Amino acid sequence: MCGIFGYIGNREIVPVLIGGLKKLEYRGYDSAGICVSKNGTLQYIKKEGRISELEKEEGLKKISGSIGIAHTRWATHGKPNEKNSHPHLDCKKEIAIVHNGIIENYRVLKKLLTDEGHKILSETDSEIIVHLIEKFYEGDLEDALSKTLKLIEGAYGIAVLSSKEEKIIVAKKGSPLVIGVGEKEMFVASDISPIVEYTKKVIYLSDDEIGIISRGKYIIKNRDGKQIEKDLQEIKWSIESIEKANFKHFMLKESFEEPEVIKNTIRGRIKEGKIKLSINLDFKKIKRIILTACGTSWHSALIGKYLIEEYSKIPCEVDYASEFRYRNPLISEGDLIIAISQSGETADTLAAIKEAKERGAKTLGIVNVVGSTISREVDSGIYLHAGPETGVASTKAFVSQVIAILLFSIYLKQEKGEEIDKELLLEIENIPDKIEKVLFNSEKIKKIAEKFKDSKNFLYFGRGINFPVALEGALKLKEISYIHAEGYPAAEMKHGPIALIDKNMPVVFLATKSSISKKILSNIEEVYARKGKIISIVNEKDLEIEKFSEEVIVVPETLEELSPVVNVISLQLLAYHIANLRGFDVDKPRNLAKSVTVE
Ligand code: AGP
Ligand code: GLU
Repeated sequence: MCGIFGYIGNREIVPVLIGGLKKLEYRGYDSAGICVSKNGTLQYIKKEGRISELEKEEGLKKISGSIGIAHTRWATHGKPNEKNSHPHLDCKKEIAIVHNGIIENYRVLKKLLTDEGHKILSETDSEIIVHLIEKFYEGDLEDALSKTLKLIEGAYGIAVLSSKEEKIIVAKKGSPLVIGVGEKEMFVASDISPIVEYTKKVIYLSDDEIGIISRGKYIIKNRDGKQIEKDLQEIKWSIESIEKANFKHFMLKESFEEPEVIKNTIRGRIKEGKIKLSINLDFKKIKRIILTACGTSWHSALIGKYLIEEYSKIPCEVDYASEFRYRNPLISEGDLIIAISQSGETADTLAAIKEAKERGAKTLGIVNVVGSTISREVDSGIYLHAGPETGVASTKAFVSQVIAILLFSIYLKQEKGEEIDKELLLEIENIPDKIEKVLFNSEKIKKIAEKFKDSKNFLYFGRGINFPVALEGALKLKEISYIHAEGYPAAEMKHGPIALIDKNMPVVFLATKSSISKKILSNIEEVYARKGKIISIVNEKDLEIEKFSEEVIVVPETLEELSPVVNVISLQLLAYHIANLRGFDVDKPRNLAKSVTVE
């Protein structure tokens, strides 16, 4: 995890670096630092806490120059404090590095370096990198870095700065890095968010490549040190789309973007009663599909299983990526492994895809971030086009994932030569309006949040395709409000969770119309009989459910297969309002970070 940012050009650098770090802060925010090179000296400052703490530092005013690197950290090795925060410097304070990832063999290297007399000040795995560069430095920073990279094992995105050379050198393996190409100025960052306000031209670095950036020039070299040509890519995201507009939090803004996001996900993909996807796979050969993902994306995968099996009749399994990669999975010819990931950088999901490829499976990615590592690793893919998601709690990516999987499921059916239900395609196009109607309920949901914000626990129940929605509702609440919450298939209640129900337990029921609505009503009655406080999500005024419910949220009716994307909106808003009323930092919940690029 963490955010790396570097700049070389002619601007006065401190505001550029601080502004860039703020854009990257969602990636990690336990400490931060910058280092600037000027007139043969490195000036640096580091601080525990958020970027706003670093920004208050008086010392910043004394720093000037126009070449520098910066880092916002999410610690993996060593506490989040000033000493452990990046940049790390060598013994002579002539070289500085920022690092994202984990150096797995750092202990042996640390011992070697300490034995040679290097003074290693921090507890991090990262600091050894700069001392290795120092050890190998003989007037050529690039050469010293190349020698260092041969020794380190693990994942890294690294940016290196020297007081003696007017350049920044970057290298990557397993952690993302992108170079922004401007007129007489260059940027490097963990993602495009801090770059987009300066330039729309970028180059995504691939594993084992090195980038050397100087004013107005960049050189990319492959692992053999040979200079290579890489395509400049044009970023389509605008600066407005990655700023908060008038919303108090990104999470709320991103929830309100959901109707638009779905339009973007389906744009150009439903045409003349058909699904258009450009997927380069031989579908006739697919005998089994395994969906793999983490967190919210795993919940989309669970919904995906219902959809894929329903439409394609191909057996489908769902696996946590972290489990899949280590459980010696049985893969045979005819297996298609689908990775679902907002960021496209989640380490476990990436590893699962690599594992599947090694075992001969075909792979497909359902990914939001264009050019991300997973999107480049898979054989074929479907981009979500949901735009940047900044709030740590995923909202708009979830609904767009479900829609993308639905399109894919129908596409599989189509590829088999079967007839596609036109009503279903029409209803997909109606979903943005229906979500809009749920968003109108935000104030009402806020009132419900006021009533339950001090609860200690929450239960969420759903059945069928809405069971994963119950899981997602519970995950949203616990992530941002720190209230303990669990989701269950409603029928499982009797096998344990019912023991928890008393007058203090809010129980959210997904009770919209479905083939098993009657069964849900019985579950509601069971909770009512035990005095649980029922919050029901329903389609229209349902007097029977109302009788048992403390609160009712009415959402528009849709086809059962589309109900998850309509139903989840109320649960996202409920979690948001509860967390906000409790006074928490909704976009940056404690202990979490947006993309989990370490195990
Ligand atoms: C969602 O609210 C979470 N913060 C988290 O579970 C997330 O969905 C998970 O880490 C997977 O991320 P990805 O979609 O970027 O791979
Ligand atoms: N492993 C490094 C550290 O703990 C970098 C972590 C990160 O990617 O933020 O400092």
